[in-house]
Amino acid sequence: MPTSDEPTSDEPTSAPDTDQAAPWWRTAVVYQIYPRSFADSDGDGIGDLPGITSRVPYLSSLGVDAVWLCPFYPSALADGGYDVDDYRDVDPRLGTLADFDDLVTALHAADIKILVDVVPNHTSDRHAWFVEALASPAGSAARNRYIFRDGLGPDQDRPPNDWESLFGGSAWEPVGDGQYYLHMFAAEQPDLNWHDDSVRADFRATLRFWADRGVDGFRVDVAHGLIKDLNEPYRPWSEISEVIRPDGSHPLWDREDLPEVYREWRAVFDEYVPPRIAVAEASVHPTRRSRYAASDGLGMAFNFEMQDADWLPSDYRRVIDSGLGDLSRGETPTWLLGCHDSPRVATRYGLARNPGRNSQQTARDWLLTDGRLPELDRALGERRARAAVLILLALPGSTYVFQGEELGLHEVGDLPSAALQDPMAQRSGGKEKGRDGCRVPLPWTPDGPSYGFGPGPANLPQPAWFADYSVASESERADSTLSLYRAALALRRVLATGDEFGWLDSGWLDSGDDVLAFRRPGGWVSVTNFGGQPVGLPDGQLLLASGALPDGRLPSDTTAWFRVP
Ligand code: NOJ
Repeated sequence: MPTSDEPTSDEPTSAPDTDQAAPWWRTAVVYQIYPRSFADSDGDGIGDLPGITSRVPYLSSLGVDAVWLCPFYPSALADGGYDVDDYRDVDPRLGTLADFDDLVTALHAADIKILVDVVPNHTSDRHAWFVEALASPAGSAARNRYIFRDGLGPDQDRPPNDWESLFGGSAWEPVGDGQYYLHMFAAEQPDLNWHDDSVRADFRATLRFWADRGVDGFRVDVAHGLIKDLNEPYRPWSEISEVIRPDGSHPLWDREDLPEVYREWRAVFDEYVPPRIAVAEASVHPTRRSRYAASDGLGMAFNFEMQDADWLPSDYRRVIDSGLGDLSRGETPTWLLGCHDSPRVATRYGLARNPGRNSQQTARDWLLTDGRLPELDRALGERRARAAVLILLALPGSTYVFQGEELGLHEVGDLPSAALQDPMAQRSGGKEKGRDGCRVPLPWTPDGPSYGFGPGPANLPQPAWFADYSVASESERADSTLSLYRAALALRRVLATGDEFGWLDSGWLDSGDDVLAFRRPGGWVSVTNFGGQPVGLPDGQLLLASGALPDGRLPSDTTAWFRVP
């Protein structure tokens, strides 16, 4: 029985049989890069493509299989780049197409794949199509690429209906000639009309543009929103404000005729060797994920349920079972603990006055108090986040890691209002803090004008506590979260060989319901203690633990991996 005060790792002996290895993306660990906050090469405070290229050795040492790059396209940054002016170019502040090509070359040389974000639900209001639409009359072909409708009343000064933007306020913006356009996000993000064939053809051209440049796949923004039912009479917002439904009955989201668009995209992906891959950002009912993850569609869809799971064995079991349901239909579960849209996982799990309440909303409420109440127990949050990621990495399927999670970074909860960039904050009139707290530029060194992010200050203020979480500081500590990720990813490469999965019931360790344990191929077992008391360890070889194992027992909020006979 191993006893240790340090996280422990031990290389197992057998390597996977490569003949039987699944396609890379079915077990990939994908690292999400938010380009403006990753690494800044030129000192303008905004992360850029050459900055990412300079950090490819870091990505290699971390051991990820792929990166997903959030938008780097020309944009006024009304929504962090999800307001795209031109889908086939690079924002000059982030570099050039040649810089993009250099990044692809460097990543591929390091055996790391690249996914780029495609944003098909809306363009920016500076996109050439929208500029043309505004200059064209009502009813024109240019306006038909978007969703324009006449205003109500004798002066047409009331919006066509009472629908609300997901960022707050009306979903309709007047253009001054009696018409309004629909924007389900910021006013600078007019929604496209996917019933228009020129829109469909142009996006297929965009997919080919990036696939031709060597990208391996795409993350599809708001994949559930493209097709809308704008037939009158409109349903009042009070009836449709609950957006996630199990039955395709919402006029705006998850419509029945949407998979047809993705079948057209699949034909484009399959023009390439190997076929390009895609993952849907689809905020849909779990029973509807398959519509996006189907093999004749995008192939994968994020399972967002873990972002809202409480740190409870029952919640974890429920969410894992839901993902395993995808697996039983031949799909690839796609796990994540957080992303650039959600409060950081270490913070969610460290809001100590709310034991068992770790949803995104808990952390958003905490943000409303400038990160003061309830009290944040940083160490607790990090310990649980470390235990959580070992669970995810031991599951069949693919796992997404948001930049900074590998450092155990917390949400920056006290950004001054004047620094906030997120339209969620602006459109709520300052009521919401928005999503900037997880997007603060990464700390690479314990000092310097932006903790090694770049030669000058960063575009969002970094707190002093970032110093301890820097890549350089954590690289020196064997018990850091970064060291844990490196060890876990290296082990997973060897261990994650197939889809086999089985729950080990609570009698297995004689430990009760607080322990969650499951078995994977080759005797790989993951055990997590969610309870308050240490429990015994199974017989077998300890491979890795998310924290110390004093007295040869598994303490609370800790996961350990074993190879059992
Ligand atoms: C989802 C993206 O992840 C988010 O950051 C963005 O604001 C919305 N889609 C709108 O594009």
